[in-house]
Amino acid sequence: MTKNQRIKRAARILKEGGLVAFPTETVYGLGADASNSTAVLKIYEAKERPSNNPLIVHLADLEQLPIWAKNIHPLVYRLAEYFWPGPLTLVLQKQPSIPEVVTGGQDTIAIRIPKHPIAQELLKTFGGGIAAPSANKFMRISPTHASAVKQELGSCVDMILDGGDCEVGLESTIIDMSGEVPALLRPGMLTTQAIERVLGCKLNAHSTQRAPGQHLVHYAPQTKTTILSSEKITDFLLQEENVGLVTLDELGSDPNQYAHNLYRVLRALDNQKFSRIIIEEVPATPEWEAIRDRISRACTKE
Ligand code: TXA
Ligand code: MG
Repeated sequence: MTKNQRIKRAARILKEGGLVAFPTETVYGLGADASNSTAVLKIYEAKERPSNNPLIVHLADLEQLPIWAKNIHPLVYRLAEYFWPGPLTLVLQKQPSIPEVVTGGQDTIAIRIPKHPIAQELLKTFGGGIAAPSANKFMRISPTHASAVKQELGSCVDMILDGGDCEVGLESTIIDMSGEVPALLRPGMLTTQAIERVLGCKLNAHSTQRAPGQHLVHYAPQTKTTILSSEKITDFLLQEENVGLVTLDELGSDPNQYAHNLYRVLRALDNQKFSRIIIEEVPATPEWEAIRDRISRACTKE
């Protein structure tokens, strides 16, 4: 099948109420027709995810935004101009007609216009909104390549569109634009500073209450996982064998390169059944914020 034929087939599966996993520039998504409650329910079943965790609705372009969101703040269009299509999700007030199952019963809706060419072509061919969380089982590491989706969801998904490795490698930055003051709900590789510069104001600190599903342990390997400074790692290795290591040397001292590699490396180490995974501490600077967030969530609370 050619790429065009695969995209047409994926769009047809979505129209018929099936599930399609597709690449975005952040991580792979598990997609269903966002206007079809029965199809959206299948996402929760496949992920084994509680149904009060809201999903992100993906759109091809801004024109469709008013179908899904109301009372859209002018600053939303400003963010869209700079960062859409891209690794940014905005939480907005939802239109009353949107099925409750998409928003986990909330009166707000998360919207993203992704940049990945396959995601774009799929959205354009499909013509509507695609509800898609990351294509992993609940609380597990997000997939950044097609075989990881297969490992996570196997036969629970009707089709996997293979788009190779995801460029960014961490989930999108989520900003709540539904209220008076913009707030950071989930840090991503699109940094807080870059967003504040465009908004011309500070973001409120991220409040996990407003983002259901942001559990403390999340994005977690099954192997026991710990963060240590490089000096402590040396001591640790003298005591314990059979340890999988994630170091700055190996993943990259540039945060974008590190983020691109992180989930693939964590998943590979997790599959090797080490007795423990040790992640070397990363710099405390703003460009590493999203990475610090994800590795701290990957850690076992001991
Ligand atoms: O990069 C990404 O964002 C990927 C790709 C596929 O787009 N998707 C993703 O989806 O990471 P998911 O479901 O794993 O995470 C979405 C998060 C939820 O955990 C929830 O916290 C937040 O988005 N969210 C969704 N709707 C919301 C709402 N109405 N209010 C607050 N938070 C919301
Ligand atoms: Mg997820």
